[in-house]
Amino acid sequence: MERTYVMIKPDGVQRQLIGNIVSRFEQKGFKLVAGKFVTLSKETAETHYGEHRERPFFGELVDFITSGPVFAMVWEGENVVKVARTLIGATNPAEAAPGTIRGDLAVQVAMNVVHGSDSVESANREIDIFFRADELQAYTKAG
Ligand code: CMP
Repeated sequence: MERTYVMIKPDGVQRQLIGNIVSRFEQKGFKLVAGKFVTLSKETAETHYGEHRERPFFGELVDFITSGPVFAMVWEGENVVKVARTLIGATNPAEAAPGTIRGDLAVQVAMNVVHGSDSVESANREIDIFFRADELQAYTKAG
């Protein structure tokens, strides 16, 4: 079954939005197979966001994501990478549709509450950065 990496950013944790965000994924029908607080080191942040290294906002992005704990999660389900991105909404909250996480809960592109992997390959890479294989749970009952 497909898996994706979703991370509630420091703004979402401080604004106590974990429950709100987790609920949206659960209600959609996805299964939370791992979740934990992590305070990212600069090195981990730079690895995770490596594809943005040449962007002008890279320094700001790393400073922000290391500024406080994030809530790191792995979600599982059919087409979960693509559907999670739909639930999350456009990167810039100003362009995110109402009903999406960013459309409902955010206004700034830097503080856009949540990150979701953009492809199956990115998801596998990002899950490996944050979780050991034995941290992922298996659901035994169909649902
Ligand atoms: P995310 O999905 O975590 O992937 C990369 C992040 O870079 C993105 O969400 C935004 O939060 C951030 N980002 C994109 N554009 C800008 C920008 N112009 N200034 C600051 N951060 C940005």
